[in-house]
Amino acid sequence: MYKINDNYLKLPGSYLFSTIGKKVRAYKAANPDRNVISLGIGDVALPLAPVVIDAMHGAVDEMSKAETFKGYAPDLGYEFLRQAIADNDYKARGVDIAIDEIFISDGAKSDSGNIGDIFSVDNKIAVCDPVYPVYVDTNAMSGRTGDYIEETQRWSNVIYMPCTKDTNFAPEIPNEEPDIIYLCFPNNPTGSTITKDELQKWVDYAIKIGAVIIYDAAYEAYISEENVPHTIYECEGAKSCAIELRSFSKNAGFTGTRLGFTVIPKELKSGDVSLNSLWARRHGTKFNGAPYIIQKAGAAIYTEEGKKQTAEQVAYYMNNARVIRESLTEAGYSVSGGVNAPYIWLKTPDNMTSWEFFDLLLEKANVVGTPGSGFGPSGEGYFRLTAFGSYENTLKALEKIKAL
Ligand code: MLT
Repeated sequence: MYKINDNYLKLPGSYLFSTIGKKVRAYKAANPDRNVISLGIGDVALPLAPVVIDAMHGAVDEMSKAETFKGYAPDLGYEFLRQAIADNDYKARGVDIAIDEIFISDGAKSDSGNIGDIFSVDNKIAVCDPVYPVYVDTNAMSGRTGDYIEETQRWSNVIYMPCTKDTNFAPEIPNEEPDIIYLCFPNNPTGSTITKDELQKWVDYAIKIGAVIIYDAAYEAYISEENVPHTIYECEGAKSCAIELRSFSKNAGFTGTRLGFTVIPKELKSGDVSLNSLWARRHGTKFNGAPYIIQKAGAAIYTEEGKKQTAEQVAYYMNNARVIRESLTEAGYSVSGGVNAPYIWLKTPDNMTSWEFFDLLLEKANVVGTPGSGFGPSGEGYFRLTAFGSYENTLKALEKIKAL
């Protein structure tokens, strides 16, 4: 008789954004006359840039002719895209990444969940608290997190690194030694960042204790300040201890189109074993490549016109972030983030729990945000708003929040 992976049974509730989606659908069904504005999940509002659309059209035409038709993509992804990434995301920042250290995928969410495949279940993970829930949930699914303890809302075998107002929403080196350290900067959900010197300390620490860092840089395009690193490989020694995850969702609006990549330098080794080879084996076996049309679309963002058009989109969202930050501060809220990231992290008013504020906002202002406690226990009493809405909806939402 078959057995299920009963690690799934240990997971509390459903995936955060599914829970929110369910609540919002129920509210809309009961109140069909209300116009609900979503500043919840970090999904983009702007259409794909014209260069991206042109590239897609061109690729569709290629697919229609025998001479240019493409079937399965190469395991690691098309070279034209990996070369564009190596040149623009790395070489242009003084970092040398070879094209066979880049693995094209269908997005950073999948990669951040799948990367655990190449690590033993015996590893102990350290995560920021609050944290993007995919890191923890996927480790729980593979049996790496111990048991979920309802009272503390923590897993018994996970090292939590609280990111609170006291720590400037950045993690501190934990007392207990982890094997795998998840870092995300600019941070989802708090919108915080750390400087290059601070990131260097993490790299030095990982090298010292023999840990690997899984560095999620999905929001890199939103960095506006000088001393914030765009890639972990700007830090000395990072190639021997870090894997970097990147996404096309936030910098180019590919949330529905799906494209991302993972960088695993060849220097990254566990003893004699190259993690790059393990991931290549995993990628080749379990993944059949992002579609040619989408990879062509991705490459278009690295053209001069593509860089200009996507920078305009990022600027549009960052203007929303500024407006949210300023309006809420003016209204007396305590807010952070929104300077190097499209997320604004605010303290809930009157000591409300995150979910109480979620309900209030949905019912009284018809605005959807994300409860901080959904990202971990240290997120309790906080709330995340995204700058990815349209400018008009952002203004409308702010008027309603201010009128509460
Ligand atoms: C979020 O809202 O945290 C993100 O959009 C989720 C994701 O990128 O998967």
